[in-house]
Amino acid sequence: MTVRLRDMQWPDIEQLTPLEEQLFEHDAWSAPSWWSELAGRPRRRYTVATDGDTIVGYGGIDCAGPTADVMTIAVAPGRQGHGLGRTLLDRLRTQARESGAEALLLEVRADNEAARNLYLRSGFEHIRTRRGYYRPDNVDAHIMRAHLVGDRS
Ligand SMILES: CC(C)(COP(=O)(O)OP(=O)(O)OC[C@H]1O[C@@H](n2cnc3c(N)ncnc32)[C@H](O)[C@@H]1OP(=O)(O)O)[C@@H](O)C(=O)NCCC(=O)NCCS
Repeated sequence: MTVRLRDMQWPDIEQLTPLEEQLFEHDAWSAPSWWSELAGRPRRRYTVATDGDTIVGYGGIDCAGPTADVMTIAVAPGRQGHGLGRTLLDRLRTQARESGAEALLLEVRADNEAARNLYLRSGFEHIRTRRGYYRPDNVDAHIMRAHLVGDRS
């Protein structure tokens, strides 16, 4: 597979919304949510991974001040397990560091083993739990943090 990473653009929203529904079900962002997120640039920075004209992954951060946040990260179902999630996360991390952030924060469902493993293996630590944060399933959110100072990844 030949996958390229580039900044997300307005026309990408058409492909992103059905992919979101597949990946996140009732937590999926709608098209208006994506419009609002992209309108938040340059503070918000979104990346897509493409194979030809097809979006196969995406992710984004919010960069404001010393702590940046991962807003989302996802890989299309048929493309998971081949290192693309880590590649996307590395890019988000680099962008956060370049923006001047000293730490990168994210929240993840406690029952999302794939994502939690990705973050743990990328140097994030679990710092806090929000009990029952994800509705309607009443699933805990794990807040995770990576330090970026001195980061060379
Ligand atoms: C989480 C997600 C982005 C990972 O993307 P990916 O391309 O499949 O991940 P990678 O192939 O880069 O794997 C990186 C690490 O993640 C972990 N991982 C990935 N898939 C996993 C799985 N099914 N089970 C357990 N760990 C897994 C592993 O630790 C892996 O590293 P390793 O192979 O060296 O052990 C992807 O599963 C996804 O899009 N899930 C649905 C959306 C989502 O939950 N996003 C996160 C919201 S917080």
